[in-house]
Amino acid sequence: MLIKRPRGWEIAEALATPEDVFLNRRALIKGAGSIAAAGVIGAALPAELALARADERTVWAKYYPGKRNPKYKPGRPITPEDINAAYNNFYEFGSHKQISRAAQALKVRPWTIRIDGLVEKPFILDFDDLLKKVSIEERLYRHRCVEAWSMTVPWSGFPMADLVRLARPLSSARFVRMETFVDKKVARGQLAHWYPWPYVEGVTMAEAMNALAFMVTGAYGKPLHKQFGAPIRLHLPWKYGFKSIKSIVRVSFTDKRPKSFWETVQGREYGFWANVNPKVPHPRWSQATERVLGTDERVPTRIYNGYGPWVAHLYKNMKGERLFM
Ligand code: MTE
Repeated sequence: MLIKRPRGWEIAEALATPEDVFLNRRALIKGAGSIAAAGVIGAALPAELALARADERTVWAKYYPGKRNPKYKPGRPITPEDINAAYNNFYEFGSHKQISRAAQALKVRPWTIRIDGLVEKPFILDFDDLLKKVSIEERLYRHRCVEAWSMTVPWSGFPMADLVRLARPLSSARFVRMETFVDKKVARGQLAHWYPWPYVEGVTMAEAMNALAFMVTGAYGKPLHKQFGAPIRLHLPWKYGFKSIKSIVRVSFTDKRPKSFWETVQGREYGFWANVNPKVPHPRWSQATERVLGTDERVPTRIYNGYGPWVAHLYKNMKGERLFM
């Protein structure tokens, strides 16, 4: 039996996928785009999405849509929901983009987040209680995947700084380390034993406290679809998408730089900082431009994904660091 080790987004999509498959997928995505443009977005969503969400809607409806924060103007059209919901990176459910059906197996209530490490007192945070303690707002953010595609999403959520304050870290904490759930019965992608589960990501305390760092609990005016990383994920719009960890179950404060999932898989290609920079190519492809999801457009990529005014100061005077990998 031939066992082929999946390589997924480690390779630029157009290189990783046979051309005919790639072109057909694009035709499909384009078709879905015109349905959305015709104003029947919901009709293109898989039926199981609508079913799986019925109970969640009643509990969480009061939070969504959050009031839009006008500070964050993406300067690009929002990616249609149905296109975004059918094109995801969530390796727990498979190393390809069509994981939306598989992800419906994820049970998102009850959901708890363990807060531990260098904090005054470790505790378990219930997700529904967390929602009562924060103020949900909507932000339109650009998202740039390391695979050189991008999207624009109306996320709902709250600043990561508010989560840090709730956690009450000690002054010795220098990094925040986050983990995704592990459940091989639910997330069959986790049967791929060559990956270092759980998915782990980390940021510095300064990055966590930056105004842009956003804990996401909803999108498109509703609670998160499961494939987006329900019930709670991170979004760091100035970094490559793999830093924006999904379905978080643990947040730890530490004085050691966390080693992330992809850094463990291939440290030469994926580092801790992973800030967007068109001038620093991935070892196997260019990062100069990006394909805008749901369109035929390729646009120039911008340093820090265009968010430099918010974040560039965080990296001043850092010598010898691979800031853009
Ligand atoms: N988080 C977990 N737990 N597992 C993943 O596979 N993929 C990352 C990131 N967060 C990933 C994850 C990558 S590579 C990207 S580009 C974004 O999620 C994709 O988010 P989306 O599916 O909502 O577009």
